[in-house]
Amino acid sequence: MKNVDSAGHVTGRSIYLDDIPVMQGTLYALPYDAPSAHAHIKKLDVSEAAAMPGVIRILTYKDIPGENQIGGIIPDEPLFAEKEVHFWGMPVALIIATSEDAAIQARKLITIELEELPVITDPREARAKGELIIPPRTFKLGDPKQAWSNCAHVFEGRADTNGQEHLYIETQGAYAYPTEHGSIRISSSTQGPTAVQKTIAKVLGVAMHKVEVDVTRLGGGFGGKEDQASAWATMVALASYLLKKPVKLAMHRMDDMRMTGKRHPYSSDFKIGLDKDLKIVAYEATFHQNAGAAADLSPAVMERTLFHATNSYFVPNVEVTAYCCRTHLPPNTAFRGFGGPQGMFVIESAIAEAARALGVSAREIQRRNLMPEGSEFSYGQIAEHVNATPAWELADKTFDFDKQQKEVDAFNAIGETHKKGMAIMPICFGISFTNTPMNHARALVHVYQDGSVGVSTGGVEMGQGLNTKMVQVAAAVFSIDPSRVKLESTNTTRVANTSPSAASATADLNGKALEIGCNAILERIKEKASRILKSKPEAITIENEAVMNNGQATDLDWKKLIHACHWDRVHLSESGHYATPEIHFDKSKEKGHPFAYHVYGTAVVMVTVDCIRGTYVVDAVKLVHDFGKRMNDAVDIGQIEGGLVQGLGWMTMEEIVYNDKGKLLSNALSTYKVPDIHSVPKEITIEALPTDGHPLAIRRSKAVGEPPLMYGIGVYFAIQNAIKAFRPDARMVFDAPYTPEKVLMSLYA
Ligand code: MTE
Ligand code: HPA
Ligand code: MOS
Repeated sequence: MKNVDSAGHVTGRSIYLDDIPVMQGTLYALPYDAPSAHAHIKKLDVSEAAAMPGVIRILTYKDIPGENQIGGIIPDEPLFAEKEVHFWGMPVALIIATSEDAAIQARKLITIELEELPVITDPREARAKGELIIPPRTFKLGDPKQAWSNCAHVFEGRADTNGQEHLYIETQGAYAYPTEHGSIRISSSTQGPTAVQKTIAKVLGVAMHKVEVDVTRLGGGFGGKEDQASAWATMVALASYLLKKPVKLAMHRMDDMRMTGKRHPYSSDFKIGLDKDLKIVAYEATFHQNAGAAADLSPAVMERTLFHATNSYFVPNVEVTAYCCRTHLPPNTAFRGFGGPQGMFVIESAIAEAARALGVSAREIQRRNLMPEGSEFSYGQIAEHVNATPAWELADKTFDFDKQQKEVDAFNAIGETHKKGMAIMPICFGISFTNTPMNHARALVHVYQDGSVGVSTGGVEMGQGLNTKMVQVAAAVFSIDPSRVKLESTNTTRVANTSPSAASATADLNGKALEIGCNAILERIKEKASRILKSKPEAITIENEAVMNNGQATDLDWKKLIHACHWDRVHLSESGHYATPEIHFDKSKEKGHPFAYHVYGTAVVMVTVDCIRGTYVVDAVKLVHDFGKRMNDAVDIGQIEGGLVQGLGWMTMEEIVYNDKGKLLSNALSTYKVPDIHSVPKEITIEALPTDGHPLAIRRSKAVGEPPLMYGIGVYFAIQNAIKAFRPDARMVFDAPYTPEKVLMSLYA
């Protein structure tokens, strides 16, 4: 089935936040943010700005009727700075004006007197100074301390990854207007409508039922709008509530880049021990997560780093510890993979280091340590339906790793200025929110009397194809043409108490709720059909809109049956509720069964490095992916391609730079480079691993949103292998992104 949104997207008719027609009298909001990463505020002077023509009012924390607090997991983040600023870009005031231009002019007139305080940007320094947001956590399996003595080889090292800008095409934004009885309605570009509703209610000091949040779709979220859409929505809600006017904010790109958090940079240490057969006997890692100035989602992101610290390998003795380090960067947040990629980069670095030191190919170590069926993850879950080895083997069979390596070697034997490198990247990603109580969803289904169907779920369409999958689910349960099904906006008054659209679990959770809702209606209409046809409900089926009795066609079809149901007063609406079964986790023991299932895959990555310039091209990424029983090939392939390219951008060119004062230097698209059409792999080949899928996946079609990002990690190690071919004694650093500057340093310095 085609993506229900593609025609709208290519004709420009799809409606994003900034496309919503504005109401008469709409005012425009613009945050004024701190020009320092850590300081006491001695004096804030908005008088000149407030006197500008077109400026209606300038709000600060003093205008907040409820709590000046937007922290989701931990209440440690004010909406507006009070006495201190904690990061460069922290909102201090909100300008409300009759036009965006007037607000921009006014912002230049605000002055602030600051008393500068010491700034920490490095997570290791934060840890040394005791600046931790939560106590460290450790996942442990076996006894690594004991195991080191059984290792033939032990290697240690350090591995760092930088942050990553979400760069959703649609920047953050929201539009609020007052409704009756002191209520408010907000359109928000958010992955978490309920998070927005809850935060606004808290800041305004009103009940949640006074706040209605509506989301049509996002021009991308990638985790950046899981929690961090709330601040902007709360600002416009506050202004609208106080001024009784519609208020809008669609952020400018540089404001968005400066004021919002990104993927967490990590700085980690590893220690890996192998026996003489290259089996990994023990693994230890210490992760320093750069959380930024407030908790945001950092504790949850940190947890997923621990869950994925051993990627798709079974290691009998593991001890991994993570520190959530408070620095003076903007609070870092969810980003596709949610800490998993950061953990996986470290074990891949450890394997690469062991391979280098032992003079073997990393592939030998990876292959020998893939998880067998029934093995235990460090967090106690027993791996079932493990597709690590099948994906690897099918990739090897299809793409012939030996042959590829021989081609690389042959090229490198002749090429003087250019060298090729190859790497294999297996992945394993757990599906479910790691926080078990978040794994539930609801859907509201109306069958209208003309046979058309309206569906609302708690899920948010952000480009990942959720709407298309939801239409498919409803159409499949009823066995009707998908054109009869319309997906409504996501709205907190229709579907309440939602978890954010995240963790790749949106289609599973909301789709299962939708199936439950549709099935309940189906039962009732079948019962009606059996009365019309003088049969039994069990004998009735609907097939492609035809109503069948004992498998025989009848005079009834979907439209006629629905019409009859309506006039017989059959209830044609239903709300389905789904909560993932089987999952649990005990944080006091750090053991449990947190994931409904895992997604696996294996990619082979080829690159060519220009050893004069330090530049490189990704020649090919060929992979076998565990889609389960795919319900929409085009959507899922789009997710693989997008995720892969986003992952390789993180690993190679996307370089976030803050100076030592905590000011973002890579603050625009001229200084922050994401992959473009020239930097995507010249060839991407995607093969599906044939399986039956998983019963906890929607229609057995496994979650696909985040896992493919991690194939991009292979690009780092392919580049490293090309460098080794040019200069066998090159010092190997594990410090992503591998920018051309860093490649040159490895080649010559
Ligand atoms: N794909 C597009 N086009 N845009 C996005 O914002 N977000 C990613 C992934 N794929 C994203 C995307 C992230 S971070 C997640 S968690 C999942 O989609 C969320 O959607 P899902 O749960 O439906 O997979
Ligand atoms: N993934 C993504 N988002 C989340 C998670 C998770 O596991 N937990 C809380 N928010
Ligand atoms: Mo995705 S990082 O779980 O929004």
